[in-house]
Amino acid sequence: MNILILSGGPRKTGRSALAANYLASLNDGMELIDLSDLVLPVYSGEEEQNHLPEVKKLKEAARKADGFVMISPEYHGGISGALKNALDYLGSDYFAHKAVALTAVAGGGKGGINTLNQMRTIMRALYANAIPKQLVLDPHCFNREEKTLLEEPARLINELLDELQLYTKAGIQIRKEGLR
Ligand SMILES: Cc1cc2nc3c(=O)[nH]c(=O)nc-3n(C[C@H](O)[C@H](O)[C@H](O)COP(=O)(O)O)c2cc1C
Repeated sequence: MNILILSGGPRKTGRSALAANYLASLNDGMELIDLSDLVLPVYSGEEEQNHLPEVKKLKEAARKADGFVMISPEYHGGISGALKNALDYLGSDYFAHKAVALTAVAGGGKGGINTLNQMRTIMRALYANAIPKQLVLDPHCFNREEKTLLEEPARLINELLDELQLYTKAGIQIRKEGLR
């Protein structure tokens, strides 16, 4: 089972990257695309963009993925521009019937839910199966000096991954056999 972690934080030292790296360390079968690292030009729809190494890398990883963890920082009450831009390169071919676990990384003022809901709406548009369990990570969830997640949020992220794996298995079956 291939799980792609798509981290939408554009800041190299941001908490989204930290959470994404924690997740990637949990399991060998997971690939990480970190948009603070893989910098994409603004999607234009021009054919020449399909030949850019960064775009090829994103598309190849999304095509291979059986399921996704999508992480977005909350910026101004919504998802990051970097994540939305990356998703604009990908159509429903990359997502249909694949399970997606959603995580928002917010500022701690009870934010995050709008970002989760926006991601959920976009996933529906891409025909993905955004699973019911979701997570908001606030600054108090992290130890930034040690670049780690604290124990309780780490446990929650592990549970999210367990549930994603269940739905991902179902998605693999559905894509093999078709919907009955
Ligand atoms: C441009 C900008 C806008 C932000 N807007 C919000 C917001 O609307 N709600 C919120 O809870 N936090 C907001 N924050 C705080 C971030 O969500 C928080 O710093 C989080 O750690 C961002 O993820 P990152 O560290 O990966 O960049 C904002 C931060 C920035 C830089």
